[in-house]
Amino acid sequence: MNDPQDRGATLVFPAIDQMALEYLRAARSRGERVVCAASVASDEIAAEFGLHRLPLIYDDDFAACFLPLVQQESISRLFCPVASVHHFMRRFIASQHLTLELIGQSPIRQQVDQHRQLMARAQRLLPFVQRCANGAPTLSLFEVAGVLRQAGYIYGESNDDKLAAMMGVLASAPAGDVVEIGSLMGRSAFVLLYLAWRYRIGPLLTVDPWQTDSAIQHESPDEFQSLVDDWDFEVLSEGFMVNMVPMRADDHAHLRMPAAEGFKKYASGAAIASMYGHRVPFSGKIAAIHIDGNHDYASVQQDCALWLDRMLPGAWLILDDYIWAHGDGPYRAGNELLRDAAERIEYAFFCGKALFVKLRH
Ligand SMILES: C[S@@+](CC[C@H](N)C(=O)[O-])C[C@H]1O[C@@H](n2cnc3c(N)ncnc32)[C@H](O)[C@@H]1O
Repeated sequence: MNDPQDRGATLVFPAIDQMALEYLRAARSRGERVVCAASVASDEIAAEFGLHRLPLIYDDDFAACFLPLVQQESISRLFCPVASVHHFMRRFIASQHLTLELIGQSPIRQQVDQHRQLMARAQRLLPFVQRCANGAPTLSLFEVAGVLRQAGYIYGESNDDKLAAMMGVLASAPAGDVVEIGSLMGRSAFVLLYLAWRYRIGPLLTVDPWQTDSAIQHESPDEFQSLVDDWDFEVLSEGFMVNMVPMRADDHAHLRMPAAEGFKKYASGAAIASMYGHRVPFSGKIAAIHIDGNHDYASVQQDCALWLDRMLPGAWLILDDYIWAHGDGPYRAGNELLRDAAERIEYAFFCGKALFVKLRH
């Protein structure tokens, strides 16, 4: 039974919502035959997949319409994205002695399980967040869970351990600007903006040109470099803005340019506007910086050199991909930083592929 086609078709009922659409598209991409049915029209689904009309599950003629459809379309599995219908169908299948497989758990059960799994993740990370905060008041369990959940909706390259370390270390950052170089679609920027507000640190500046020339990392293997071709950079830029909307975006500005150019603008004290057009009150002094732009050695080294100059006593520098499978730019630049700025550094640690450096007060 390796071929999904051998199984008969999957009926998606009621095919009316986003969950149904996501199942349908995923099923199509893995070659699973799908049939859609609903009691109310869904134009989008009907246009893309076709739609059989069925009566409401409470109507007397439901069984008389549902059973022939199962026969005609050789339905062997059923996907129900609506909790009440899932509940009804589980009983209906048993009472009619059907050999239909009801896929997965009910949407309610899924929510319960997902929430418990999220809380278990947050519970596991909370002691680490507290250790990274080093005695400073830090986030509650609910906040850690909330940050993980929202960040999880955003495509990105920062893992749980790195985000947890960020949640902890920023608790001890001085007041000043928070800067991120390299934002992709905003997973880490979203977390930084939350933390900058939560710990009353200051506004967030993100810098990312979202363009091919900057994104290519010449020191990485060809295979890795060609990943750039998969991106549509306008989608990245638009996606980033959409992902930041739920945060109070007036404390955030983005410079769509390479980091070196961004530094010139930031250091000049020129007005930098939020996505709503309001001037963001940057102080020109950095409380925390996340360096995650181009990973070629010269770029990382330049990012460290330029922006370090503006860092406050007690500030945090987070250098991503210090240990990285696709090149050693961040590792070499990070080691130089540890050596050359040793007298400014209070301590450093490695976590979630990133190097965390705390400057002396
Ligand atoms: C690894 S991704 C960032 C991931 C993001 N911080 C996250 O956690 O999801 C690297 C980003 O750096 C950006 N980038 C490349 N060259 C850059 C440069 N010179 N200055 C700023 N950003 C750059 C790329 O466009 C890309 O979005």
